[in-house]
Amino acid sequence: MSQPIRFALAGFGAWGKHHAKSIFDNPDARLVAISAPSEASRAEAAQLYPQAQIFADSLDMIAQASFDIIDIVTPSHTHREIAIAAMKHGRHVLLEKPMATNVEDCKAIAATAAECGVQLALGHELRLSSQWGEIKKVIQSGTIGEAQYVLVELLRKPYRQGADGWRYDQNRVGSWVLEEPIHFFDLARWYLEASGDPVELYAYGNSRDPSRPELFDNFSAMFKYPNGSYAVVSQTLAAFEHHQTVKISGTKGAIWAGWSGALDRTTEPSFFLKVFDGETLVDQPMAKTSGEVFELREEIAHCIRMVRGESHSLASGLDGLWSAGLCLVAEESIRQNKPLPVADLLKF
Ligand SMILES: NC(=O)c1ccc[n+]([C@@H]2O[C@H](COP(=O)([O-])OP(=O)(O)OC[C@H]3O[C@@H](n4cnc5c(N)ncnc54)[C@H](OP(=O)(O)O)[C@@H]3O)[C@@H](O)[C@H]2O)c1
Repeated sequence: MSQPIRFALAGFGAWGKHHAKSIFDNPDARLVAISAPSEASRAEAAQLYPQAQIFADSLDMIAQASFDIIDIVTPSHTHREIAIAAMKHGRHVLLEKPMATNVEDCKAIAATAAECGVQLALGHELRLSSQWGEIKKVIQSGTIGEAQYVLVELLRKPYRQGADGWRYDQNRVGSWVLEEPIHFFDLARWYLEASGDPVELYAYGNSRDPSRPELFDNFSAMFKYPNGSYAVVSQTLAAFEHHQTVKISGTKGAIWAGWSGALDRTTEPSFFLKVFDGETLVDQPMAKTSGEVFELREEIAHCIRMVRGESHSLASGLDGLWSAGLCLVAEESIRQNKPLPVADLLKF
C-alpha cells in the first residue's frame, strides 16, 4: 500500500480552512504543517489539527518541515515568493488562483517549476467539477459539433474582505478580475481548446463606488480566436447569493448549465446541465454534487495522484499564466477602453 502524501498548508484563512479539512479528510493525505502569520489563526489551526506543526512564517515552514507538497492559500501577492521557495526546496506545489498578480511573476513561477523538476498544479478546481468538467467531456464527445460560442456568467454577493482587507487593496489583490472571473476565463479557454489560443480581448467594468473605480462590481469581457470562435465572461458582484451559468453553442448543438446556492460554499446547491445535440434535448446526469467545496476535495485527491506520478496536473503553469494573463489584459482593456491583443503578452 502507498504511503500517504504529506501536505504543508500556507494560509489558514477563509478558503485555507476548507483546504485543511479536505486534506485532513482524505485517507491518502496527511496534513503535517500549517503556516499563518497571526496568533489567532495559528491557535485555531493548532486546536483543530494538533498533529500538524504550526509556523508563523511560510518560508520557515518550507525550510524546516518534512512534506511532499505545499498547498498555497495565501493572499495573491505572496504566491510568487512562497511557491518559488518551496520549489527550490524540491517540493511539489498546489497554488491557488490567481497564479500571481502580474504576468512576470507567473512566468517566474512556471519557469522555476520546470527548472526544479517539480509538479505545479493551479487551483482551477472547476475543471474537476461533476458539472463544469462534464461540459468539457460533452464538447470532446462531439455531441454539439465544434464549440463556437461560450458564455460563462455569475451573479453573486460582494467579495469577502480577506485577512487585513487585502482583497480590497489594489496592491495586494492585483485586480478584482483575478479573483472570481479568472475561473471563468480558465473554463472558457478550456472549453474552446480546439480553437487554439485566443488572440484579442475587449472588456468593460464599472464600480458602485466612485472613489474606487478599479473595484469592478460589474465586469464583462469578450475574447476571440483566429477561427472566429469567441467567449464572453461576465460577472456582477452587486447582487445576492451565488448563481452561475454556462451557455455554449456548437456547429450542431448547444449546452446550458446553471448552479445556484445561497452562498458560493453551500453544500446544498441546485444545479442542472442540459445538452442538445441538434435533435434531442437531454438532462445530463451528473455523478456527484457540483460546488466548489466538493471540487476542492477532488483537487486534493488529484494532487495526491499527481505527486504519486499517476496523473498530470489538470491545470498547469501555462494554464495559470493564461488565465491570470487574460484577467490582466482585461483590466488594461477597461483602462484603455479598446480591444487589446493577448497572444504576445503571454509568450514565454
Ligand atoms: N479557487 C478558489 O475557488 C478560491 C476561493 C477563495 C480564495 N482563493 C484564493 O486563495 C487565496 C486565499 O484566499 P482567502 O479567501 O482564504 O483569503 P483570507 O481569508 O484572507 O486568508 C488568507 C490567509 O493567508 C494568511 N497569510 C497572509 N500572508 C501570509 C503569508 N505571507 N504566509 C502565510 N500565510 C499568510 C492569512 O493569515 P492570518 O489568518 O494569520 O491573517 C490568512 O490565514 C487567494 O489567493 C484567493 O484568491 C481561491
